[in-house]
Amino acid sequence: MPTMRHGAEEPLLPHLVGPVLDVGVPECRALAVTTVSGSGTVDGSSRPLGNATDHHLLVALRNWADVVLVGGRTAVTENYFGVRTDDTVASRRRAGGQSPVAPVAVVTRTLDLDPTSQLFWNTFTPPLLLVPDAALTDASLAERREQLKAAGAQLTPTGSGSAEEIVQALHQRGLTRIVCEGGPGIYSLMFAAGLVDLLHLTVDPLLQVPVEKPLFAGDVAVRHRLQLEHHAATDDGTLFLRYRAVR
Ligand SMILES: NC(=O)c1ccc[n+]([C@@H]2O[C@H](COP(=O)([O-])OP(=O)(O)OC[C@H]3O[C@@H](n4cnc5c(N)ncnc54)[C@H](OP(=O)(O)O)[C@@H]3O)[C@@H](O)[C@H]2O)c1
Repeated sequence: MPTMRHGAEEPLLPHLVGPVLDVGVPECRALAVTTVSGSGTVDGSSRPLGNATDHHLLVALRNWADVVLVGGRTAVTENYFGVRTDDTVASRRRAGGQSPVAPVAVVTRTLDLDPTSQLFWNTFTPPLLLVPDAALTDASLAERREQLKAAGAQLTPTGSGSAEEIVQALHQRGLTRIVCEGGPGIYSLMFAAGLVDLLHLTVDPLLQVPVEKPLFAGDVAVRHRLQLEHHAATDDGTLFLRYRAVR
């Protein structure tokens, strides 16, 4: 297995990202980090998990993506903000036919997002909120909708709110390279619908019981065989797996 000294991670990145399809060709990649014991969180967040290489992989996939897809609870718990960029990355993306920076798209039914949070102001591009039609017409949510629109959110209808309709709503906006950053509820929603092409899974060498929050969870049944496409490790014992969904 290829190993890499922790801190000298950049040469590993192209191998972790793997082959890249042309801009405009739909692809959905899920990016997740887990403990050895299968938890997606430690002390309520994924932030204590992973290492610098994992962070560089996140940045590389955000730079690859047309859109960052994330669940409402992750956006709140992890205090999401807009994707960072710089002139070099923005120019490269423009030259390749992409927007300078990928927007964050938050999947939400309740619209329970704080309009004063940094998701709305600490960003180059306004967030998309992917909202089932019912929540866009629910009179009890009218005030929330207005507050979020006033904060800059683009409310985007997703029909019944199925995973297929969520992805279709993104594709209709030309956002075909999707990086799905979770959380567990959204991973399961997307995997159950067979909409994830690649899973980038980072395994942090932490074994902790009880398992705080299973990485894959939710009320939908999922059973998928994955093909291991690439594996690597950094010398702190963090494992980087890239799986392809077998269809
Ligand atoms: N280890 C990792 O890689 C990783 C990655 C991300 C997050 N996390 C952790 O996971 C936790 C959050 O995960 P989670 O499973 O509770 O929540 P989640 O997957 O982030 O979001 C679930 C939420 O998505 C929205 N949603 C789900 N299906 C929907 C649909 N069909 N249409 C519209 N909205 C829909 C709802 O949001 P509303 O409630 O807004 O309606 C639902 O509550 C956090 O603790 C975070 O730190 C870990």
